Amino acid sequence: MTTRSVILGTGSALPRRCVSNAELAETVDTTDAWIVERTGIRFRYIAGEGETTATLATDAARRALAAAGIAADAVDLIVLATATPDQTFPATATKVQAALGIDDCVAFDVQAVCSGFLYALSVADSMIRTGAARTALVIGAETFSRILDWEDRATCVLFGDGAGAIVLGAEQGSDRGILATRLHADGRHNQLLYVDGGPSTTETVGKVRMRGREVFRHAVVNLAAVMNEVLEQAGVSADAIDWLVPHQANARILDATARKLGLPPEKVVMTVDRHANTSAASVPLALDAAVADGRIRRGDLVVLEAMGGGFTWGASILRY
Ligand code: UT7
Repeated sequence: MTTRSVILGTGSALPRRCVSNAELAETVDTTDAWIVERTGIRFRYIAGEGETTATLATDAARRALAAAGIAADAVDLIVLATATPDQTFPATATKVQAALGIDDCVAFDVQAVCSGFLYALSVADSMIRTGAARTALVIGAETFSRILDWEDRATCVLFGDGAGAIVLGAEQGSDRGILATRLHADGRHNQLLYVDGGPSTTETVGKVRMRGREVFRHAVVNLAAVMNEVLEQAGVSADAIDWLVPHQANARILDATARKLGLPPEKVVMTVDRHANTSAASVPLALDAAVADGRIRRGDLVVLEAMGGGFTWGASILRY
């Protein structure tokens, strides 16, 4: 009988401090009107003292475990996607493991920037289907505010901090679970979206740099293509999709990709207005928001997609 990876619970966590566009405009040369018109963003959460990628990830993981009704010690795999780890090493996943009181499990980080959650999901799903794991925590967590250049208005208004998590469990012969996933990377585009530092080059952490207009163009084309690939792989037509849970970078990208698939806006989960772009956290944060408010229900067909620095991009289709 086929083993499938089924989402047993979702959770999320945001920093205490919520910052509006108007508050940002007090220190950055920007306006609420520009940010809303070009991106759809109205608010973002910014981590404060004591809040790190690991603390946000741990809070999100605890909530996902509680929603799934699963004890932490049943977890045998933690895959955490982040581009803003607490330390260069060890993996932030191991900090989450320790905070959850899990003595022994597999725990590691995945680095694919904004597509990190899709990459992490694919790794965990593969390990579950091959029997290497039975119960996995898959987490996307970021504190991008700590790698932003607050003098660069073209990037600093776009990002926020947060974490989202899911518990994935092995189920035999289930009609629910992850049906298909497709991932891509094209390293030729490094200079369109990157961080200008790193341990092996500058011995610093670096700041986010982006040529937004070029990234935008690639995002719309690549996301529409990869969504068509997963639909084809799963043998599902676009009109069967109940919910699209996209990476939350820009409301205009969400609208354009949904249009390309012929999906009405009501089927697109949009949280970019209140969370901004939280990189690897954005898909699981949006997923948890739509599960928590009752929009996504058991049995719904859901497509997740993301694109980010590298470039990396991917999509996954699952029956919730
Ligand atoms: O998560 C990874 C994937 N990332 C993305 O998908 C981001 C993709 N890119 C985008 O979302 C958009 O390109 C941005 C939101 C980043 C920018 O929107 P845009 O419509 O492409 O604007 P632009 O970069 O072409 O800039 C237009 C104008 C420029 O002024 P001039 O040269 O026309 O006079 C900028 O200097 O807007 C100016 N500008 C701003 N003005 C007020 C740039 N940033 C700001 C700002 N406030 N924060």
